[in-house]
Amino acid sequence: MTDKKRILVTCALPYANGPVHIGHLAGVYVPADIYVRYLRMRGRDVLYVCGSDEHGVPITIKAREQGCTPQDIVDRYHGIIKDSFSGLGINFDIYGRTSSSVHAEGASEFFSTLNDKGCFVTRESEQYYDPEAGQFLADRYIVGTCPRCGNENAYGDQCEKCGCTLSPEELINPRSKLSGATPVRKKTTHWYLPLQNYEQWLREWILEGHKEWRTNVYGQVKSWLDTGLQPRAVTRDLDWGVPVPVEGAEGKVLYVWFDAPIGYISNTRELLPQSWEKWWKSEDTGLVHFIGKDNIVFHCIVFPSMLKAYGGAYILPENVPANEFLNLEGDKISTSRGWAVWAHEYLNDFPGKEDVLRYVLTANAPQTADNDFSWKDFQTRNNSELVAVFGNFVNRAVVLTHKYFGGTVPACGALSDVDREVLDEIPAIRASLERNMENFRFREALRDAMGIARAGNKYISDTEPWKLAKTDLERTATVLNVSLQICADLAIAFEPFTPFAAERLRDMLGVGLYAGSDHRIGEQETVNTYRPGEGRALHSGQTFPEGVPVLRWEQLGDACILPEGHRIGEARLLFAKIEDDAVDAQISRLQKIRAEIEARKKAEARKNVPPQKDACTFDDFGKMDIRTATVLEAERVPKTDKLLKLTIDTGIDRRVIVSGIAEYYSPEDMVGRQICVLANLEPRVIRGIESRGMILMAKQGDGSMRFITTQETTDNGAQIG
Ligand code: MF3
Ligand code: ZN
Repeated sequence: MTDKKRILVTCALPYANGPVHIGHLAGVYVPADIYVRYLRMRGRDVLYVCGSDEHGVPITIKAREQGCTPQDIVDRYHGIIKDSFSGLGINFDIYGRTSSSVHAEGASEFFSTLNDKGCFVTRESEQYYDPEAGQFLADRYIVGTCPRCGNENAYGDQCEKCGCTLSPEELINPRSKLSGATPVRKKTTHWYLPLQNYEQWLREWILEGHKEWRTNVYGQVKSWLDTGLQPRAVTRDLDWGVPVPVEGAEGKVLYVWFDAPIGYISNTRELLPQSWEKWWKSEDTGLVHFIGKDNIVFHCIVFPSMLKAYGGAYILPENVPANEFLNLEGDKISTSRGWAVWAHEYLNDFPGKEDVLRYVLTANAPQTADNDFSWKDFQTRNNSELVAVFGNFVNRAVVLTHKYFGGTVPACGALSDVDREVLDEIPAIRASLERNMENFRFREALRDAMGIARAGNKYISDTEPWKLAKTDLERTATVLNVSLQICADLAIAFEPFTPFAAERLRDMLGVGLYAGSDHRIGEQETVNTYRPGEGRALHSGQTFPEGVPVLRWEQLGDACILPEGHRIGEARLLFAKIEDDAVDAQISRLQKIRAEIEARKKAEARKNVPPQKDACTFDDFGKMDIRTATVLEAERVPKTDKLLKLTIDTGIDRRVIVSGIAEYYSPEDMVGRQICVLANLEPRVIRGIESRGMILMAKQGDGSMRFITTQETTDNGAQIG
């Protein structure tokens, strides 16, 4: 972990063109939130910055599709996203937006400075222009036929059918998505940041200086640098974004990936207009960017090069913990296809279960490889970990304390071996937990925290205080005292992971918590209000009423956190069981979406007609002897999936043909059917069977095959031509 005085934590600014889903949460926001809560509990001065990324082409496309303005789109999603985060207890010091005026000024000033310093090169090039709409066309605004697979609706940057990357020039028959017009080539000038000038410096800074970064991050940076960097355009011909502040650049805006990272700075300025610089320009500040893997190049290469070019003492990130991707029920999450679990819908469907999602996404975090979210796993982790271990243990300790000791912490007598064993385990767990937290291994850190709950649950099951109470109240007192200390450990250790449950637990134990720095009210560095997920949390500068013990991270593992005689609160439900019907409803919602996706795919495939082949002569055609024939017998060719052995009557003779249609037709389907056959194809031995001829099949858009039926003929051997 950074040992800097201040720590500035940023989370990738989500695009305000859709709500956030579990992939975003698992990749970026939940881990960042865990880290921030942890650092704050450790007394570190943390600033936690995020906001919406409100520029870029997809937002303009969405606006056009919905017949509204881009501003309408970003207003809508900014609100939804912001509420989702706070609903999940992810409370940034500021959640800003890149359509704000502070940002427009900041980004504009940043560009001008680089421009004045001569950091850019300009280049003229030809780009597609829509003469009807009077606009240059971004790659996504151009559609045409894919040169590789013939898909007629490939985009200027990618064909979604065959997955290949394209440039707009490669498209056959390009057309504008705006007007349908055929675009023309037109000259335009853009500003480029010559990244190759920063290559050597990046090598030294990252490849030499940050070998400790995650291997996925380090590896991607290395491969970019080894391939060689190119000048990167930082402007676009578009009417949505921060205008390029140069005379003669009308109709041009800053490229979204140029302005968005500056948003981290703008948002800091917006929150702390007087003191923002100490967060961005002081060697005392450690900067950490939480991002997903698709953002690595921008945060490790482009943005640092921009900051370096600007000069002026901007600090660079100390670490960029990027996660891999989370899949959903085995398939890639896709916003456009609707294959996702949306944060705002989750909050709606599972009120009071914010922590369960945080927990599951952390336990399954795609830290080193892509990982999968499934509703069954979600249910199991809740029921057999949170409820059966954590909740069950706390419930037993608290209920029994009320039952036998009137709700006060009983005296701790002489410790036996079992007591000592469990108490000794916790400082070791704490050491591991801290190491994992500080090295961004949140999944492992959560496993440590859960280890405390498991140890407690085992302890109370082994010592059976409910039985002890009948014979030895003094020993019962000791066991419950130890159990309550472990409950207090859990209230500390779980605050970063499950803040809502930690709050309920503090309520049960009648304690507060030291929760560290908070910059949400501007220049002042303390806050006096409680927010969801932070009740009974004490920030620097606040005091709790006399007599309320205030938990601190440093007490984790102490044998006497809660003093004898302290009154605890009522037992509350820490976690509730999730029943089958709740997850079944989610699963069937997804099944419906899967069916819709499949149906759309099929419809797309049907539209997909391959281009015409080169011309052939009548003679070429005339060489083929095509006839009607009837299938007399059919059987599978053993040990193959695709082949059927067919005996057919061709009118000329009876013969055997081996045909690769078993994927589409069973032998029973074939017997008695009249088909068409290329009779004079040279015989071939397939799997030891001589095949004489070929059955004519039609290959459909989705790749499946159908034989050609002959509804009008009955005779076999009729010649087709
Ligand atoms: N909006 C981008 C994404 O969702 C992330 C932008 S991060 C920033 O992939 F640094 F540019 F702000
Ligand atoms: Zn294609």
